[in-house]
Parts: sequence; structure tokens; C-alpha cells
Amino acid sequence: MPTIEENQQSWDKSYAWEQQGDEWSSSWGGADAQWFGSILPRIQALMSGGTMLEIAPGFGRWTNYLKDTCDRLIVVDLSEKCIKACQERFSTDSHIEYHVNDGKSLAMIPDNSIDFVFSFDSLVHAEADVLATYLAQLATKLKPNGVGFIHHSNLGQYQPILSLIEQIPSEMRAEIVNKILLEPTRWRAGSMTAKLFADYCDRSDLQCICQELVNWENEGLLIDSFSLFTPKNSIWARENNIVENLGFMNEAAATKQRSHLYSINSK
Ligand SMILES: C[S@@+](CC[C@H](N)C(=O)[O-])C[C@H]1O[C@@H](n2cnc3c(N)ncnc32)[C@H](O)[C@@H]1O
Repeated sequence: MPTIEENQQSWDKSYAWEQQGDEWSSSWGGADAQWFGSILPRIQALMSGGTMLEIAPGFGRWTNYLKDTCDRLIVVDLSEKCIKACQERFSTDSHIEYHVNDGKSLAMIPDNSIDFVFSFDSLVHAEADVLATYLAQLATKLKPNGVGFIHHSNLGQYQPILSLIEQIPSEMRAEIVNKILLEPTRWRAGSMTAKLFADYCDRSDLQCICQELVNWENEGLLIDSFSLFTPKNSIWARENNIVENLGFMNEAAATKQRSHLYSINSK
């Protein structure tokens, strides 16, 4: 399961970043289509300008949109290569601040300074200890009515099945099971669940207010969660609303179809 060191190795060294991460948007018909068709509709009510924090921006696939919606944007990534790429890509945007971290620390962020914290398609590869540490710090970094949207793994919900699979001899696993179950888990963190995320919020004086459990490039497994959270006394605080959405990839397909219809290259 992905450790901080393995993430570092992968994103800072091995991965080629040939399309700056846009390659992961192909199921939606591109980064524009994914942002405007899938991500923005989920978060636009939470974005009130001010100061935003993006955790794990990679080469800036979402930074490219977030930067135009706030007065100040702070980005933090464990990969120096990614932060350098963002600095080059957004060199004309003087309101962006960049930090390389150790995969856990937000010590560079002033307390009580963040209106909105965002992370998408990154912390799915982070194990439970990383999410627990980030949330504990975010409790002090968010303003009293600040909110957060974090995309993380829910693969741990299937841990009993994964443990059973691990008992199957590896030759057979590669032949049969990897293709059916393990491959579609897409390097998700096996220790993390939506339930744990809500518990970590609670322990840190935060309230998890919505969790959308979604499938990802697979049919039947809700391996990811989009979790929304806020300080317990914030105007946003309310009981957690948990929704299971097995139609997430159908939504992606519909977005892609629509984006093709209205694009310059429409066939
Ligand atoms: C798959 S890339 C996605 C990047 C970007 N969010 C996107 O969607 O294009 C994963 C990114 O997360 C970063 N990352 C992984 N674990 C992290 C952690 N614990 N703290 C900070 N950054 C992390 C990696 O360095 C990499 O930039």
C-alpha cells in the first residue's frame, strides 16, 4: 500500500508527467470538461474567494482553475519536481505561494488563515495516518467558517475482501484476481475509509458534513470518497450526509459525450 516514500518516489522521480496530469481526465473528455462538468458543480458553493489551500497539486491540473477564484492560493506538495512545475506554469500569478512538505506537515500555513482547502485525485494514495495528521492540523488552519473538500480513499471498506485475496498464491492472484479486483483499485490506500475520515474530523474539532462515496474506473466498488468538513461551530456545521454514488463513472461518460458535442472537434 502506498507509503509517503513510495509517493515521493513515484511522483518526484518515476512518473513522466507528459501531459501534466491531464491524461487522468480522459474519461471526462479533458481537464476543462472534468473541472466544469464534475468538480466545480460539487464545490462552487464552498468557494467564497479569500485564501485557499490546495494539498498535493501535482503539475497544477486543478490549480489552473482554483487560482482564478481566490485572492491568495497556497499549494503544498511532497514533490519538489511538482512544485517547480507549478512555479513555472503559473509564473505570472503572483498570488500563489508554494511549499514542498514531508507528506504530512502544514506548519508553513498560518493558523486561522484558510477559507477553503481542496485536494483532488492525490490523497487517494495516502494512508490513514497521513489523513489523520492533515485533518488535525487543518482544524487550526481553517478560519471559523472555513470549509474543506478532500478526495481520499475508501478502499479500506473492502479490507476483508482484500485480506482474503492476499491469502491466494501470488501466481494465481496475478492471473485471476488482480485483473478483476486489485487492478481496479488504482493504487488506493488500503487503510483509509470514509468512516475513518469522519472520525478523524470529530477528534480534531471538525465536523464532516457530507461524504459522497464513488466508484473510479470500475463498476461496483466505492473505492473513493469526496468528504466535506468544517469547524464544529462554523455556519456550515450540520450532521454528516453520506451518499453512495455508483453512477460516478456514468457521469464522467456523459460529461465526455457532452464535451465532444460542443467542442470545436465535434464529430
Ligand atoms: C496523482 S498526482 C495528482 C496531482 C493533481 N492533484 C492532479 O489531479 O493532477 C498525486 C500528487 O499528490 C502528491 N502527494 C501524494 N501524497 C502526498 C502527501 N502525503 N502530501 C502531499 N502531497 C502528496 C504527489 O506528489 C503528486 O503531486
